[in-house]
Amino acid sequence: MKNLMRVFIVTVLAADLFAIVYFTGHYVNTGHFLPAQHGNETNPVLAALTPETAEASDSDASGVEAKNVDMSVVLAAGDPTLGQKISNKCKACHTFDSGAPNKTGPNLWNVVGGPIAHLDSFSYSSALAKRHEAGDTWTEENLYHFLENPKDFAPGTKMVLKIRKSEERAHLIAYLKTLK
Ligand code: HEC
Repeated sequence: MKNLMRVFIVTVLAADLFAIVYFTGHYVNTGHFLPAQHGNETNPVLAALTPETAEASDSDASGVEAKNVDMSVVLAAGDPTLGQKISNKCKACHTFDSGAPNKTGPNLWNVVGGPIAHLDSFSYSSALAKRHEAGDTWTEENLYHFLENPKDFAPGTKMVLKIRKSEERAHLIAYLKTLK
């Protein structure tokens, strides 16, 4: 009987000791006693599921970007080699080589710096023809806005393709500048 008591007490003490060591270790490692007390901020899986993060990746996917993009900084970073690759998006309607024919859209050789509606050989919408008569030119800034949303820049234009990403517009403009 005495022996049984001793075994019992030793067992209880050992269990307590184990519990103390276990929870102290867990607390030292995590700052929490129980796993359920972990906050979102420290758990990458939960953090990825918070609404803010989900919204941010949504707007990334749709290509909508922050409004506070500095146009001159973005334009200065334009890379003609990347722009040439992106110009594949335009080739259904445009040619880029000197003297190449117009398609659905006008040939784009030497367009930067020239007048809006820069070719006599193309039949432009009245939207662009009016800008031509007003003496407006294809500055880099005008191209930047036109390519972002042609119909905002010139309501009624027949050009429809929007390039939403400011860096892509800068690369395209850097490429168009080389065509002269
Ligand atoms: C679906 C056909 C189509 C696609 C794709 C297209 N464009 Fe156009 N683009 C046009 C048409 C049509 C016009 C003439 C618009 C008008 O007369 O209103 C035009 C006009 C332009 C002009 C003005 C030219 C001038 O002489 O004033 C520029 C610059 C231009 N496009 C650049 C581009 C670039 C860069 C791309 C590719 C990122 C592109 N376009 C993709 C059809 C297209």
